[in-house]
Amino acid sequence: MKAITVEPHKPETARLEEIPEPDARDGSVLVEAIAVGVCGTDVEIVEGKYGWAPRGKTRLVLGHESLGRVVDPGPSSSLNKGDLVVGIVRRPDPVPCPNCAVGEWDMCRNGQYTERGIKEIHGFMSERWRIEPEYAIKIDPALGILGVLLEPATVVTKALEHVDVIGRRSFWEPRTVLVTGAGPIGLLAALVAKLCGLEVHVLDRMETGAKPDLVRALGATYHSGTVKEVGFAPDAIIECTGVGRVIADSIQTIGSSGIVCLTGVGHGGVITSAACADIAAATVLKNNVIVGSVNANKRHWYRAGEFLARADRSWLAKLITRRVRPENFMSALERKPDDIKVIIQFSEV
Ligand code: BGC
Repeated sequence: MKAITVEPHKPETARLEEIPEPDARDGSVLVEAIAVGVCGTDVEIVEGKYGWAPRGKTRLVLGHESLGRVVDPGPSSSLNKGDLVVGIVRRPDPVPCPNCAVGEWDMCRNGQYTERGIKEIHGFMSERWRIEPEYAIKIDPALGILGVLLEPATVVTKALEHVDVIGRRSFWEPRTVLVTGAGPIGLLAALVAKLCGLEVHVLDRMETGAKPDLVRALGATYHSGTVKEVGFAPDAIIECTGVGRVIADSIQTIGSSGIVCLTGVGHGGVITSAACADIAAATVLKNNVIVGSVNANKRHWYRAGEFLARADRSWLAKLITRRVRPENFMSALERKPDDIKVIIQFSEV
């Protein structure tokens, strides 16, 4: 079968190639790939900056934002042939650490977790893949191709859940949330925050085009200046850019007892000890929390599924801005100005 593979930590090694059918040991459920979303993590892996092949192998099958159709549900599953499923990305570490032991693999304590298409387990960018039934999430068939948005939706569902849990350390009736970045993660964060009843503001560099339109269509407010110019002190900021300036401004702009949740992974720059002390002083004096959030556990997968089911499908459909055939996968990894979510489509829904 055809698969998109890469040799992690070696740039320019990504290729579409023939590989053997998925190993039965990968799971009793056999799935035919429909589509796989592409995100910044995939780009990083292809650029040789991130990612790990399975132990003893040199190449990794890429892809962690999946959508597929069950071809063979295997013996012990509640799934049926034809069901649309999305695969959970992370697997608990083998020790396991206390968090993995209770199913909170997203909070793994020893870093020995594995992730499909990212860390030591093959991903979903192959014509067929196998999965353990307990890691296959069945989606509402009415979602169709939009099911490919479930994985990024789980990431923001976790982030917003953690903001809420942290907020409850004291009296917490949040009203306003600012989302920085109107890429797929930012827009899905805005959607989830809106569905949670918050007043949502989204900030991005783009001044016109699909992003402002999508934000306004949600009933949220769009800002294209800097975080410092939004004109209010948000109760929570969901930072989805990973850009140093935006992060620093967010920490300075957050309201008293507010929470800055970092979801973007950026690079570069040197933090001086003075700047660090300034950030700490602002955080202390306003009782702020700066928290990082990555990945998602089964509770978030369940909740994200509920959020997608409640969302306006025509709005969700506008997030998928480009569909690329596996043969042209390199073009899916290039970022074009109008891109929101680019997917690689293996077969029709
Ligand atoms: C994925 C997460 C993963 C993280 C770090 C993200 O792109 O959505 O599932 O945990 O990368 O590897």
